[in-house]
Amino acid sequence: MIGFFDSGIGGLTVLAEFRKRFPDFDYAYFGDRANCPYGDREDEEIVDLTERGVERLFREGAEIVILACNTATVHAIRYLQQVRFPEKKILGVTIPGAEKIVESGYRHVGVLATEWTVRIRAYKERVHILDDSVSVHEIAVPELVPLIERGIVGGEEVREILAAKTSQFQNIEALVLGCTHYPLVRKEIESLLPGIEIVDPGEEAAKKFASYLERHPEVEAKISRGGTLRINYSEPT
Ligand code: DGL
Repeated sequence: MIGFFDSGIGGLTVLAEFRKRFPDFDYAYFGDRANCPYGDREDEEIVDLTERGVERLFREGAEIVILACNTATVHAIRYLQQVRFPEKKILGVTIPGAEKIVESGYRHVGVLATEWTVRIRAYKERVHILDDSVSVHEIAVPELVPLIERGIVGGEEVREILAAKTSQFQNIEALVLGCTHYPLVRKEIESLLPGIEIVDPGEEAAKKFASYLERHPEVEAKISRGGTLRINYSEPT
């Protein structure tokens, strides 16, 4: 089974991309809606909550866990991979997103993400490891995740918030949806940025998973296949 972790419902967008490409695997999803949003929490808290969610998915039988959350990925993935679960497989979404930018040859990109992902320059840093001549302009949209969690994915409020942020980008060729909740408002973003390519790191992670499995046939052999899906959330208060 492949486990997916997010602070809320955003990771469902990543899960959907994986299921589209790999429909035969079994899937389990855990969204920590009781503690969402993670975007403006302290570092230790994000690491601790992510660790608990990932542990739960491994306990439920996941052979591999995808951190379907940029905020959790940038704070916790190294600790989880190297210290907490060194014998397990854990993948994130930010590196596939950064790789897509460089592979596509974009020179000027914008990123919309949570407060923390922007504060630690997550995408800029990852893109610059690959090519430090690409200009990366990251902007935080802290208002968006709470709205999306309430099911508000369009309309005036969402549009006004996004318009105020997207109008700050100048001459970008591509925009990265740097939070896995944002594909849920992709239509609004596209209509505000006509002609700009949209990069969805969750989609890129799913595309690259095929080559990951080719490089790790022992992992592929272990993942159970039954096409099942189980979705769980902690209860929002
Ligand atoms: N879906 C998470 C991300 O990709 C979100 C956010 C949050 O809880 O603030 O960053």
